Amino acid sequence: MANKEGEISLLTPYKMGKFELSHRVVLAPLTRQRCLGYVLQPPMILYYSQRTSKSGFLIAEAAGVSDISQTSPEMPGIWTKEQVEGWKPLVDAFMQKEESFSVSYGWYGFPGNALSQTLKAVRSRLRQNSLDRVGLGPSVWEGVRSLSLSQHLKILTVQKKNPFTISLINLPYFRFDGVEIHGAHGYLIDQFLKDEINDRTDEYGGSLENRCRFALEVVDAVVKEIGGDKVGIRLSPFANYSESGDSNPETLVLYLAESLNEFKILYCHVLWLKTEPSGGTFISAGGYGREDGNKAVAENRTDLVAYGRLFLANPDLPKRFELNAPLNKYDRSTFYTRDPVVGYTDYPFLETTI
Ligand SMILES: Cc1cc2nc3c(=O)[nH]c(=O)nc-3n(C[C@H](O)[C@H](O)[C@H](O)COP(=O)(O)O)c2cc1C
Repeated sequence: MANKEGEISLLTPYKMGKFELSHRVVLAPLTRQRCLGYVLQPPMILYYSQRTSKSGFLIAEAAGVSDISQTSPEMPGIWTKEQVEGWKPLVDAFMQKEESFSVSYGWYGFPGNALSQTLKAVRSRLRQNSLDRVGLGPSVWEGVRSLSLSQHLKILTVQKKNPFTISLINLPYFRFDGVEIHGAHGYLIDQFLKDEINDRTDEYGGSLENRCRFALEVVDAVVKEIGGDKVGIRLSPFANYSESGDSNPETLVLYLAESLNEFKILYCHVLWLKTEPSGGTFISAGGYGREDGNKAVAENRTDLVAYGRLFLANPDLPKRFELNAPLNKYDRSTFYTRDPVVGYTDYPFLETTI
């Protein structure tokens, strides 16, 4: 895409599926630990509303798909009626602002913050299903790791229906525009994808095709439930969070992108990308600022750019990019504190700083 003189490519319109976006600056999913018992709290409505702009695109923080998938009650869930009710005012607020909004959701059983809770929840579920009790092995991490790779799939099978799709039954009710499947950051799906952590010997381990099978089955199930035009996926092929690295990430991401094209999903969202897959809408994320984000769009290396820490600290980020205004600095020490205001909803808007 040619960058006309004076044009800020990041702020040009883009049509993603049926969504006519007015700019390409996307809010990346950001866990902020402000829920209570997996339920959204009023300050979260304010936080997200602060980050809206007409016809922008926001992706909500990671939400768990079932009681054994979520690690911390300060993170949201979407598997009970009460949790779904908690999201409703947020979605209503967005509808009024004509904002597109996806919930990012996934299975966070492995590298969670509240390890003991994960183990407790998983253990009880395992017992319910008459599976063997999980031994922790020589270290807790080793135990969780082997649980993730050898037991989670059994749990999915035992439950008969994929919990990713069970939680989607609620989707029409709380009217999200879509969901982003969390296939990044060393969580369950990522663990299947990466050859440095997936040590399975069945049809879900070994070859590239086998390691991608679980991710594609989840996508297939979700697409069948709500339609590909509402589904995105997030991947971090080049990262090795929680030991989830891959020896050949380029091949992995290209294979995945090609396979995902067949499902005609809404978008593919990739972190720290070094290769450009072709196909539908592509969101790039990880370490972008105004200039390199703009360049990436202008050079057609991505369609949209997702911003994490900069958007966290600058509720009016698209406006600041438009004016090339100075940015607030983010305060890492308040990323995950429970405070409903400090470091959460008190980052100043441009009008109040100039
Ligand atoms: C406080 C914080 C919370 C995050 N939570 C999530 C999350 O829930 N889901 C996710 O996929 N990524 C999460 N990330 C990663 C961000 O979405 C983003 O990819 C990362 O910060 C890199 O982008 P940036 O350089 O623009 O910040 C989080 C990052 C931060 C700093």
